[in-house]
Formats: sequence, C-alpha cells, structure tokens
Amino acid sequence: MNKKYQFTEILRDAYRNHYAIPSFDFFGIYDAKTMIDVAAEYKTPIIMMSIVFNHFRPKHFLSFIQSYAEDVGVPVFTHIDHARSIELCKEAIDAGFDSVMIDASADPLEENIRKTLEVVEYAHARGVAVEAEMGHIKNGVVTLEGGYADRENYLVQTKDAVELVERTHVDMLAVGIGNQHGFYVEDPHIHFDRLEEVHNALDIPLVMHGGSGLPQEMVQQSIRGGITKVNVATDFATHFSDALRDDMNKTQGHAFYSRSMDPAMAAGKEVVRHWIETCMSAGKA
Ligand code: 13P
Repeated sequence: MNKKYQFTEILRDAYRNHYAIPSFDFFGIYDAKTMIDVAAEYKTPIIMMSIVFNHFRPKHFLSFIQSYAEDVGVPVFTHIDHARSIELCKEAIDAGFDSVMIDASADPLEENIRKTLEVVEYAHARGVAVEAEMGHIKNGVVTLEGGYADRENYLVQTKDAVELVERTHVDMLAVGIGNQHGFYVEDPHIHFDRLEEVHNALDIPLVMHGGSGLPQEMVQQSIRGGITKVNVATDFATHFSDALRDDMNKTQGHAFYSRSMDPAMAAGKEVVRHWIETCMSAGKA
C-alpha cells in the first residue's frame, strides 16, 4: 500500500472518529522497543518520533524501527519532530520516513509559509506527510518567560493558520493553545475556545505538543475538539531514566548496563499505557 495513503488514512480515521495517534519521542532502541511493544499489546497505531541527531542520522533509526515494527505487526509510523531545517526534512524524506515536521513557528508568517511549502512540495511528491506549527509551544521546565500573561504571543492565530494551510496543503498542524513542552510549572491551561475556533476554520488533523503533565480529561477534551496526534517526550524520558539510574545505583553500575534496561523499560511501559489510554486509540490498528 502507498505509504502516504496508509499514514494519512489512519490519521483521517482518528480525526473522524475522535481518537488520537499517540506519538512518542525516542532516543535509542531500548526506549523505541518499549513503545512499540506496548502499541502491540494495545493494538494501536503509534508514531515514533526522532528528535535528536547528535549521534545518529534519520536512516539509522529508521532501519531499527522498520525491522522491529514488522515483527510486532501493528502500524508503526516514523516521524521527524521539530526539524528546524528544510535539509533535515529532505534527508528524512529521502531515507523513507512516513512524516516530517518543519517547525518554522518562530519565523514570521510569510517565512513559515515559504519553508513549509518547500517541504510539502518535496514530501508530497514522495508520498510523505508534513506537519507544520502555528503559535508557540513554550518550554515549561526550561523557561517560562511571560507565563500566561503574554496571551496573543503564543496562541495560534486562526486567520494565519487558515492562510498557512490553504497556501501549503500541509497534512497536520501543531497548534499553540496553552500547551507547553516539559512538565508544567503552573497549572496547565488549555484555551479550548481557540482550539474550537481553529478546528471550525480548518478541516485537517491538529497536533497537541507538550502532552507530559496534562491531565487526561484535558487531553481527551482536546481530542474531541480536533486534536488527532498527541506528542509525549518528557513523561516517558523521566520515568525511563529515573528507573535506569535507580537500578544502576543499586547494582553499583555493573558494566553490562543492558540489564538495568529491564526496570527502565517496565517504567517506560507504564507511561506508554497511560498515553494510549488517554488517546483512546486501543484496538484501532
Ligand atoms: P513533552 O516533553 O512536554 O511531552 O512534549 C513533547 C513534544 O511535544 C515533542 O514534540
């Protein structure tokens, strides 16, 4: 089956039927395996997102994900998260990723549109889906400049979102609606009014970044309001690495550190289960 057709079909199915595809950032094969194993347990589609390329290139991760996914038999899609450069998107598309995110949300609208359009043209010609971003998704733990007072600067502007989608034909749009990357440093506040406005104005799947720390009901209300892909990173990474560190401290850090992966993977699995349940995607594979 054509890859884009299959990925966008599942995305469309989620959009129409009010569930979301759980999407996880992973850093290596142990955490990737943990995520895919739980997807198989719940028979859910899942999106595996690569974000850091300081040690590997996209193609290296792709070969592991594809070969492992084939064995477990659930739809596992590959995605590049927060690519700031067109070149990285093209590299991942050439490697065979299902989807890429071009994040030009910090640029002025025209520049965001120009970059997104260039990636969309390259991606669609090769059967790959594209996510763009409008509004800012702040970093909760790292910085909280302005808190929530700075309303108009980080919320997605509906008129701009419509213009970007109409001019680029992007497949998914990440929206800034009060969500933040990292654990929230104050009570999370999602602007459902803005989500509703964008959802009414656009007929494409919307993406919620900054899943970690959002209450389940808040995420599910967002999913009913058009969110179709939910991104999670900090929640998994924290539980996985805490368990790994605890076990290595207990065992005085034996050289065969892969043994300490058992408790790390068990802790990671609990996080993945929580997010699959939150996304209401069990059984949709
Ligand atoms: P969290 O780390 O807050 O879960 O955000 C992940 C994310 O949105 C990645 O794009």
